[in-house]
Amino acid sequence: MAKTATKKTASKATEAPATKVLSVENIETYYGPIQAVKGLSIEVKEGALVTLLGANGAGKSSTLKTISGILEPDKGRVLLKGQDITGFRPDRVAAQGIAHVPEGREVFPFLSVRENLLMGAYLRSDKDAVERDIEAVYDYFPILHERADQRAVLLSGGQQQMLAIGRALLSSPSIMLLDEPSLGLSPLLVQEIFAIITRLNRERGVTMLLVEQNASVALEHADYGYVLELGRIVMDGPCTELVKSKDVQEFYLGMGESSAETAESGREDKRWKRKKTWR
Ligand SMILES: Nc1ncnc2c1ncn2[C@@H]1O[C@H](COP(=O)(O)OP(=O)(O)OP(=O)(O)O)[C@@H](O)[C@H]1O
Ligand SMILES: [Mg+2]
Repeated sequence: MAKTATKKTASKATEAPATKVLSVENIETYYGPIQAVKGLSIEVKEGALVTLLGANGAGKSSTLKTISGILEPDKGRVLLKGQDITGFRPDRVAAQGIAHVPEGREVFPFLSVRENLLMGAYLRSDKDAVERDIEAVYDYFPILHERADQRAVLLSGGQQQMLAIGRALLSSPSIMLLDEPSLGLSPLLVQEIFAIITRLNRERGVTMLLVEQNASVALEHADYGYVLELGRIVMDGPCTELVKSKDVQEFYLGMGESSAETAESGREDKRWKRKKTWR
Protein backbone atom coordinates (compact mmCIF):
# COMPACT_ATOMS: atom_id res chain seq x y z
CA MET A 1 0.00 0.00 0.00
CA ALA A 2 2.32 2.68 -1.20
CA LYS A 3 -0.40 5.15 -1.96
CA THR A 4 -1.83 7.48 0.59
CA ALA A 5 -4.47 9.28 -1.44
CA THR A 6 -7.49 9.72 0.76
CA LYS A 7 -10.25 10.53 -1.71
CA LYS A 8 -11.10 9.10 -5.06
CA THR A 9 -11.30 12.57 -6.50
CA ALA A 10 -7.89 13.42 -5.07
CA SER A 11 -6.23 10.30 -6.47
CA LYS A 12 -7.91 10.75 -9.85
CA ALA A 13 -7.00 14.43 -10.03
CA THR A 14 -3.30 13.63 -9.88
CA GLU A 15 -3.66 11.23 -12.78
CA ALA A 16 -4.98 13.30 -15.63
CA PRO A 17 -4.70 11.61 -18.04
CA ALA A 18 -4.80 8.37 -16.03
CA THR A 19 -1.93 6.03 -16.78
CA LYS A 20 -2.59 2.49 -17.85
CA VAL A 21 -1.48 0.13 -15.11
CA LEU A 22 -2.49 -3.06 -16.91
CA SER A 23 -3.00 -3.79 -20.58
CA VAL A 24 -4.00 -7.23 -21.74
CA GLU A 25 -3.66 -7.50 -25.51
CA ASN A 26 -5.46 -10.21 -27.42
CA ILE A 27 -4.47 -13.12 -25.17
CA GLU A 28 -5.27 -16.73 -26.05
CA THR A 29 -4.81 -19.33 -23.33
CA TYR A 30 -5.24 -23.10 -23.44
CA TYR A 31 -5.42 -26.03 -21.04
CA GLY A 32 -3.97 -28.64 -23.35
CA PRO A 33 -6.44 -28.78 -26.24
CA ILE A 34 -9.09 -26.70 -24.42
CA GLN A 35 -9.02 -23.01 -25.27
CA ALA A 36 -10.22 -21.03 -22.24
CA VAL A 37 -9.36 -17.49 -23.42
CA LYS A 38 -9.99 -16.63 -27.06
CA GLY A 39 -8.37 -13.33 -27.94
CA LEU A 40 -9.19 -11.09 -25.01
CA SER A 41 -8.11 -7.48 -24.46
CA ILE A 42 -8.69 -5.36 -21.38
CA GLU A 43 -7.23 -2.22 -19.85
CA VAL A 44 -7.08 -0.99 -16.27
CA LYS A 45 -6.12 2.60 -15.52
CA GLU A 46 -4.44 3.76 -12.37
CA GLY A 47 -6.87 4.13 -9.46
CA ALA A 48 -9.70 2.34 -11.30
CA LEU A 49 -11.91 -0.46 -10.03
CA VAL A 50 -12.62 -2.56 -13.11
CA THR A 51 -14.78 -5.66 -13.15
CA LEU A 52 -14.74 -8.69 -15.41
CA LEU A 53 -18.14 -10.38 -15.39
CA GLY A 54 -19.18 -13.75 -16.72
CA ALA A 55 -20.93 -17.02 -15.96
CA ASN A 56 -19.36 -20.30 -14.85
CA GLY A 57 -16.63 -21.35 -17.24
CA ALA A 58 -16.55 -18.02 -19.13
CA GLY A 59 -12.79 -17.79 -18.64
CA LYS A 60 -12.56 -15.26 -15.80
CA SER A 61 -10.14 -17.16 -13.59
CA SER A 62 -8.10 -18.24 -16.62
CA THR A 63 -7.72 -14.58 -17.56
CA LEU A 64 -6.46 -13.65 -14.10
CA LYS A 65 -4.13 -16.68 -14.08
CA THR A 66 -2.73 -15.58 -17.42
CA ILE A 67 -2.10 -12.07 -16.07
CA SER A 68 -0.38 -13.36 -12.94
CA GLY A 69 1.81 -15.86 -14.79
CA ILE A 70 0.19 -19.10 -13.56
CA LEU A 71 -0.80 -19.79 -17.17
CA GLU A 72 1.22 -18.72 -20.20
CA PRO A 73 -0.75 -17.44 -23.16
CA ASP A 74 -0.14 -18.94 -26.60
CA LYS A 75 -0.77 -15.54 -28.14
CA GLY A 76 -1.04 -11.94 -27.00
CA ARG A 77 0.73 -9.82 -24.42
CA VAL A 78 0.34 -8.69 -20.81
CA LEU A 79 1.80 -5.27 -20.05
CA LEU A 80 2.27 -3.82 -16.57
CA LYS A 81 2.82 -0.06 -16.72
CA GLY A 82 3.97 -0.51 -20.31
CA GLN A 83 6.44 -3.29 -19.52
CA ASP A 84 5.88 -6.60 -21.28
CA ILE A 85 5.58 -9.26 -18.56
CA THR A 86 4.13 -12.01 -20.76
CA GLY A 87 5.52 -15.40 -19.77
CA PHE A 88 7.06 -14.18 -16.50
CA ARG A 89 6.83 -16.72 -13.69
CA PRO A 90 4.24 -15.97 -10.96
CA ASP A 91 6.82 -14.96 -8.35
CA ARG A 92 8.37 -12.51 -10.80
CA VAL A 93 4.96 -11.10 -11.75
CA ALA A 94 4.20 -10.64 -8.03
CA ALA A 95 7.54 -8.89 -7.55
CA GLN A 96 6.64 -6.54 -10.42
CA GLY A 97 3.53 -5.42 -8.50
CA ILE A 98 0.58 -7.68 -9.35
CA ALA A 99 -1.16 -9.20 -6.31
CA HIS A 100 -3.52 -12.05 -7.16
CA VAL A 101 -6.19 -13.01 -4.62
CA PRO A 102 -7.28 -16.36 -6.05
CA GLU A 103 -10.71 -17.94 -6.08
CA GLY A 104 -11.12 -19.79 -2.76
CA ARG A 105 -8.79 -17.43 -0.83
CA GLU A 106 -5.91 -19.81 -0.19
CA VAL A 107 -4.57 -18.44 3.08
CA PHE A 108 -1.83 -20.34 4.93
CA PRO A 109 -4.06 -22.32 7.33
CA PHE A 110 -1.51 -23.06 10.05
CA LEU A 111 0.08 -19.62 10.17
CA SER A 112 -1.43 -16.93 12.35
CA VAL A 113 -3.35 -14.03 10.88
CA ARG A 114 -0.37 -11.72 11.43
CA GLU A 115 2.05 -14.23 9.90
CA ASN A 116 -0.22 -14.53 6.87
CA LEU A 117 -0.13 -10.76 6.47
CA LEU A 118 3.67 -10.76 6.79
CA MET A 119 3.87 -13.40 4.05
CA GLY A 120 2.32 -10.81 1.75
CA ALA A 121 5.21 -8.48 2.52
CA TYR A 122 8.01 -11.03 2.11
CA LEU A 123 9.64 -9.09 -0.73
CA ARG A 124 9.64 -5.77 1.14
CA SER A 125 12.53 -4.45 3.16
CA ASP A 126 10.78 -1.30 4.46
CA LYS A 127 9.86 -2.85 7.82
CA ASP A 128 8.39 0.31 9.35
CA ALA A 129 6.11 0.82 6.37
CA VAL A 130 5.10 -2.85 6.56
CA GLU A 131 4.05 -2.37 10.20
CA ARG A 132 2.06 0.72 9.22
CA ASP A 133 0.36 -1.24 6.44
CA ILE A 134 -0.51 -4.05 8.87
CA GLU A 135 -2.12 -1.44 11.13
CA ALA A 136 -4.00 -0.06 8.11
CA VAL A 137 -5.29 -3.56 7.28
CA TYR A 138 -6.42 -3.92 10.90
CA ASP A 139 -8.27 -0.59 10.56
CA TYR A 140 -10.14 -1.83 7.51
CA PHE A 141 -10.71 -5.32 8.93
CA PRO A 142 -10.93 -4.98 12.75
CA ILE A 143 -11.73 -8.70 13.10
CA LEU A 144 -8.22 -9.50 11.79
CA HIS A 145 -6.79 -7.38 14.60
CA GLU A 146 -8.86 -9.27 17.17
CA ARG A 147 -7.70 -12.57 15.71
CA ALA A 148 -4.11 -11.52 14.94
CA ASP A 149 -2.51 -14.41 16.82
CA GLN A 150 -5.02 -17.08 15.83
CA ARG A 151 -4.26 -19.59 13.11
CA ALA A 152 -5.99 -18.72 9.83
CA VAL A 153 -7.66 -22.14 9.71
CA LEU A 154 -9.88 -21.02 12.60
CA LEU A 155 -11.30 -18.05 10.69
CA SER A 156 -14.69 -18.17 8.96
CA GLY A 157 -14.85 -18.09 5.15
CA GLY A 158 -15.57 -14.37 5.12
CA GLN A 159 -12.73 -13.64 7.53
CA GLN A 160 -10.36 -15.72 5.38
CA GLN A 161 -11.45 -13.62 2.39
CA MET A 162 -10.59 -10.50 4.38
CA LEU A 163 -7.21 -12.00 5.27
CA ALA A 164 -6.49 -12.88 1.64
CA ILE A 165 -7.25 -9.29 0.62
CA GLY A 166 -5.17 -7.96 3.52
CA ARG A 167 -2.23 -10.17 2.58
CA ALA A 168 -2.41 -8.91 -1.02
CA LEU A 169 -2.37 -5.31 0.27
CA LEU A 170 0.79 -6.04 2.25
CA SER A 171 2.71 -6.53 -1.00
CA SER A 172 1.98 -2.86 -1.78
CA PRO A 173 0.80 -3.80 -5.26
CA SER A 174 0.41 -1.67 -8.37
CA ILE A 175 -2.74 -3.65 -9.07
CA MET A 176 -4.78 -6.22 -7.18
CA LEU A 177 -6.55 -9.06 -9.00
CA LEU A 178 -9.56 -10.31 -7.03
CA ASP A 179 -11.15 -13.58 -8.10
CA GLU A 180 -14.77 -13.83 -6.92
CA PRO A 181 -14.48 -12.36 -3.43
CA SER A 182 -18.24 -12.91 -3.00
CA LEU A 183 -18.03 -16.68 -3.48
CA GLY A 184 -19.78 -18.64 -0.74
CA LEU A 185 -20.51 -15.62 1.46
CA SER A 186 -23.85 -14.51 2.86
CA PRO A 187 -25.43 -11.47 1.16
CA LEU A 188 -24.69 -9.34 4.23
CA LEU A 189 -21.02 -10.31 4.24
CA VAL A 190 -20.78 -9.74 0.50
CA GLN A 191 -21.99 -6.16 1.04
CA GLU A 192 -19.50 -5.72 3.88
CA ILE A 193 -16.53 -7.02 1.86
CA PHE A 194 -17.47 -4.92 -1.17
CA ALA A 195 -17.85 -1.80 0.93
CA ILE A 196 -14.28 -2.32 2.13
CA ILE A 197 -12.99 -3.12 -1.38
CA THR A 198 -14.53 0.15 -2.56
CA ARG A 199 -12.99 2.07 0.34
CA LEU A 200 -9.55 0.59 -0.38
CA ASN A 201 -9.91 1.74 -3.97
CA ARG A 202 -11.20 5.22 -3.13
CA GLU A 203 -9.30 6.04 0.03
CA ARG A 204 -5.97 4.34 -0.67
CA GLY A 205 -6.08 4.48 -4.46
CA VAL A 206 -5.60 0.71 -4.85
CA THR A 207 -6.12 -0.20 -8.51
CA MET A 208 -8.25 -3.33 -8.85
CA LEU A 209 -9.37 -5.85 -11.43
CA LEU A 210 -12.28 -7.70 -9.91
CA VAL A 211 -13.66 -10.92 -11.35
CA GLU A 212 -17.26 -11.65 -10.39
CA GLN A 213 -20.14 -13.90 -11.23
CA ASN A 214 -22.29 -11.80 -8.91
CA ALA A 215 -22.96 -9.09 -11.49
CA SER A 216 -25.26 -6.93 -9.40
CA VAL A 217 -22.75 -6.36 -6.62
CA ALA A 218 -19.85 -5.90 -9.04
CA LEU A 219 -21.71 -3.37 -11.22
CA GLU A 220 -22.80 -1.50 -8.12
CA HIS A 221 -19.23 -0.99 -6.91
CA ALA A 222 -16.95 -0.91 -9.98
CA ASP A 223 -16.27 1.98 -12.37
CA TYR A 224 -15.91 0.07 -15.60
CA GLY A 225 -16.89 -3.43 -16.66
CA TYR A 226 -16.14 -6.09 -19.25
CA VAL A 227 -18.55 -8.94 -19.95
CA LEU A 228 -16.92 -12.24 -20.80
CA GLU A 229 -18.65 -15.10 -22.60
CA LEU A 230 -16.87 -18.29 -23.66
CA GLY A 231 -13.43 -16.69 -23.53
CA ARG A 232 -14.34 -13.50 -25.39
CA ILE A 233 -15.33 -9.98 -24.34
CA VAL A 234 -18.84 -9.39 -25.67
CA MET A 235 -19.51 -6.01 -24.10
CA ASP A 236 -17.73 -3.33 -22.12
CA GLY A 237 -18.44 0.13 -20.76
CA PRO A 238 -18.84 2.24 -17.63
CA CYS A 239 -20.84 0.26 -15.06
CA THR A 240 -23.48 3.00 -15.00
CA GLU A 241 -24.07 2.24 -18.71
CA LEU A 242 -23.81 -1.56 -18.44
CA VAL A 243 -26.60 -1.73 -15.84
CA LYS A 244 -28.89 -0.04 -18.36
CA SER A 245 -28.18 -2.64 -21.04
CA LYS A 246 -31.14 -4.96 -21.69
CA ASP A 247 -28.84 -7.97 -22.18
CA VAL A 248 -26.98 -7.33 -18.95
CA GLN A 249 -30.26 -6.87 -17.11
CA GLU A 250 -31.76 -10.04 -18.52
CA PHE A 251 -28.80 -12.40 -18.49
CA TYR A 252 -26.68 -11.13 -15.63
CA LEU A 253 -29.01 -9.35 -13.24
CA GLY A 254 -31.99 -11.71 -13.54
CA MET A 255 -34.26 -8.78 -14.32
CA GLY A 256 -37.00 -8.60 -16.93
CA GLU A 257 -39.93 -9.57 -14.75
CA SER A 258 -41.19 -6.01 -14.97
CA SER A 259 -41.61 -6.35 -18.72
CA ALA A 260 -44.85 -7.60 -20.21
CA GLU A 261 -43.15 -10.65 -21.75
CA THR A 262 -42.73 -12.32 -18.38
CA ALA A 263 -46.46 -12.26 -17.79
CA GLU A 264 -46.51 -15.58 -19.61
CA SER A 265 -45.79 -18.40 -17.23
CA GLY A 266 -43.48 -20.09 -19.76
CA ARG A 267 -41.23 -17.06 -19.74
CA GLU A 268 -41.22 -17.00 -15.96
CA ASP A 269 -40.04 -20.55 -16.01
CA LYS A 270 -37.21 -19.78 -18.42
CA ARG A 271 -36.08 -16.81 -16.39
CA TRP A 272 -35.97 -18.92 -13.25
CA LYS A 273 -33.78 -21.44 -15.01
CA ARG A 274 -31.49 -18.68 -16.23
CA LYS A 275 -31.22 -17.16 -12.79
CA LYS A 276 -29.79 -20.41 -11.53
CA THR A 277 -26.83 -19.86 -13.81
CA TRP A 278 -26.75 -16.11 -14.27
CA ARG A 279 -27.28 -14.91 -10.72
N1 LIG B 1 -7.38 -27.06 -15.12
C1 LIG B 1 -8.17 -27.06 -16.19
N2 LIG B 1 -8.08 -28.02 -17.13
C2 LIG B 1 -8.88 -28.03 -18.22
N3 LIG B 1 -9.80 -27.09 -18.47
C3 LIG B 1 -9.96 -26.11 -17.58
C4 LIG B 1 -9.15 -26.04 -16.38
N4 LIG B 1 -9.52 -24.95 -15.68
C5 LIG B 1 -10.51 -24.37 -16.39
N5 LIG B 1 -10.77 -25.07 -17.52
C6 LIG B 1 -11.78 -24.74 -18.54
O1 LIG B 1 -11.52 -23.44 -19.04
C7 LIG B 1 -12.74 -22.72 -19.22
C8 LIG B 1 -12.69 -21.43 -18.43
O2 LIG B 1 -12.61 -21.76 -17.03
P1 LIG B 1 -12.40 -20.66 -15.90
O3 LIG B 1 -12.07 -21.37 -14.64
O4 LIG B 1 -11.44 -19.64 -16.38
O5 LIG B 1 -13.86 -20.02 -15.83
P2 LIG B 1 -14.47 -18.98 -14.80
O6 LIG B 1 -15.10 -17.90 -15.63
O7 LIG B 1 -13.47 -18.58 -13.79
O8 LIG B 1 -15.64 -19.84 -14.14
P3 LIG B 1 -16.20 -19.89 -12.61
O9 LIG B 1 -17.17 -18.75 -12.48
O10 LIG B 1 -16.88 -21.20 -12.53
O11 LIG B 1 -15.03 -19.75 -11.67
C9 LIG B 1 -13.85 -23.68 -18.83
O12 LIG B 1 -14.34 -24.28 -19.98
C10 LIG B 1 -13.16 -24.67 -17.94
O13 LIG B 1 -13.79 -25.92 -18.00
MG1 LIG C 1 -13.33 -18.81 -11.76
